[in-house]
Amino acid sequence: MTINACVIGLSTIGLLHCENLIRIKKTKLAYVFDYNHKLRSKISKKFKCKTSNNFEKILKDKSIKLFIIASPTNTHEYYVKKLISHNKMIYCEKPILMNIRKLKPLIKQIKTKKIKFCVGLNRRFAKPYLKIKKIIQKRKISTIRIISRSANHNMKQSIRNGGLFMDKGIHFFDLACWFSSSKPIKILSIAKPLSAPEYLKNNDFSDAFVIIKFNNNITAEFMYSRKNKLGHHEKVEILGKNFSVNSDKYFNKKTYFSNFNIKIKDSYYKCLKNFIDTNKENFLLEGSNAQIICDAALKSAKIEKEIKLKF
Ligand SMILES: NC(=O)c1ccc[n+]([C@@H]2O[C@H](COP(=O)([O-])OP(=O)(O)OC[C@H]3O[C@@H](n4cnc5c(N)ncnc54)[C@H](O)[C@@H]3O)[C@@H](O)[C@H]2O)c1
Repeated sequence: MTINACVIGLSTIGLLHCENLIRIKKTKLAYVFDYNHKLRSKISKKFKCKTSNNFEKILKDKSIKLFIIASPTNTHEYYVKKLISHNKMIYCEKPILMNIRKLKPLIKQIKTKKIKFCVGLNRRFAKPYLKIKKIIQKRKISTIRIISRSANHNMKQSIRNGGLFMDKGIHFFDLACWFSSSKPIKILSIAKPLSAPEYLKNNDFSDAFVIIKFNNNITAEFMYSRKNKLGHHEKVEILGKNFSVNSDKYFNKKTYFSNFNIKIKDSYYKCLKNFIDTNKENFLLEGSNAQIICDAALKSAKIEKEIKLKF
């Protein structure tokens, strides 16, 4: 049976989801919604689907089963709660919400109501990272090094999406948990001395260096930056005794410095398709754990001290 869907938030990521819903045989892009009325009517025309100026109208349409939340993170909580109350299937872009204290009660509600929920941790489906995961499966690893730097980032967008750690860091904290098959026990962030004054004035960071110690003794080092001359750069290197693996080998050279929506475009499709095909909760725990790490990274950056973590 076809799953009728609605995409909320129609910028780069929302548009990718619209295309993917059309590409997946089991789903149909039935509605699009955005606060910007010009944008929502332009996109509904482009994809030949419906739109409305009233979200409640879409919500009450019983034929719409799946909602993809791709609006800024500071709007997620509102939509997630509305959708839970109408028992809808939810694909939520990372992170789930802004306020960590509200995370556990929300997860409990999702579980109790048996809502099919997916957190968009799409990097787990990116080819270079799948390749690395396969290579390290039977090896003992000691160190994970991750770099993520982007060019021309918009500070207001970073703030709407929860800041450096929740917006950018979350994907890479999750990758490190996945690669290490473990959970962090302590974390240290150095961000204040590295960040641009305009970010600091707005309670955000533009740059950070983060170190995590995992339960199984693996160490992960992260370097995040909102500046990069050449474009978007992300790289994972994993070291073990007499062995190392580097994601550079597996990224397409032609799109190496392109934005994530180009260089790992297919991962968004695969993440959504996996959710549709498995038809059950995907990455709810992983998304929640990654968000707890983001919060600890932020606390550590603010107080400039190591933080202990317990899961
Ligand atoms: N998975 C990934 O790789 C990835 C990459 C980038 C962003 N994201 C996530 O996607 C989400 C959107 O991020 P973005 O940077 O595209 O955001 P954005 O600030 O560009 O906004 C996205 C769209 O949402 C619309 N919008 C704003 N408020 C709205 C509201 N209350 N209701 C409906 N629409 C609203 C805007 O008009 C805009 O078109 C965030 O949660 C972000 O963390 C994920």
